[in-house]
Amino acid sequence: MNLIFLGPPGAGKGTHAQRLMNELGIPQISTGDALRQAVKNGTELGKAAKAYMEAGDLVPDELVIGIVEERLKADDCRKGYILDGFPRTVKQAEALSGFADIDVALNLSLADEVIIKRLSGRRVCLKCGGTYHVSTLNGREDCANCGEKLVQRKDDSPETIQNRLNVYAVQTAPLIDYYQQKGLLKTVECQPEATVEENYQRVREALGIA
Ligand code: AP5
Repeated sequence: MNLIFLGPPGAGKGTHAQRLMNELGIPQISTGDALRQAVKNGTELGKAAKAYMEAGDLVPDELVIGIVEERLKADDCRKGYILDGFPRTVKQAEALSGFADIDVALNLSLADEVIIKRLSGRRVCLKCGGTYHVSTLNGREDCANCGEKLVQRKDDSPETIQNRLNVYAVQTAPLIDYYQQKGLLKTVECQPEATVEENYQRVREALGIA
């Protein structure tokens, strides 16, 4: 199954994509993770992307499209993949249609006020990609999966979160119509009070794997 996870920042794309990756045995391809890794390694791509990311703006399309096109050629994508955070503009979606056949674009929807709470309390593991929320960590500061110290992402500050939401509304939300018109869209209304597992069940049901 070739999947796109659409949705605003903090809707749970990465959280649910990781679970699905483990369940279906197909890779999660996160352009955000790839770009953060490039920044960490100080590559040319990372140097070009850093300022955009820290401001909560989108990295230019031409820098991102090539990453995904190359990644999808790898052997582990033959049985399917989950695109997490790509495409994010109509231009990216049009480019994607030239090198991939998408089965479902899953739109995770969540209210802005919940997103702000989630992102400001998010802690991540830069080693294995684990994602947590302070409300469930009980004071723990290391990754339950690999033991690495958890950190707060630079773009999870209140002003940057607001800019990311604005950028999403203007540049990425039009993809909901784009995939609706192609007959590929499914939407999961994520419930603010539901646990991660409960919302993940909704994702599975929408994909017909429940
Ligand atoms: P990226 O890393 O893709 O960030 P994003 O889209 O803003 O998404 P997030 O990772 O912030 O949120 P998420 O939906 O994955 O939520 P999560 O699962 O962590 O991109 C970062 C930057 O890279 C962009 O701003 C841009 O600059 C650049 N970039 C990336 N892709 C690009 C592209 N294609 N084009 C151009 N630029 C690009 O969940 C959030 C929190 O909520 C966590 O703490 C989690 O534990 C918690 N949570 C989740 N579900 C629940 C629940 N049910 N109950 C309680 N807490 C929950």
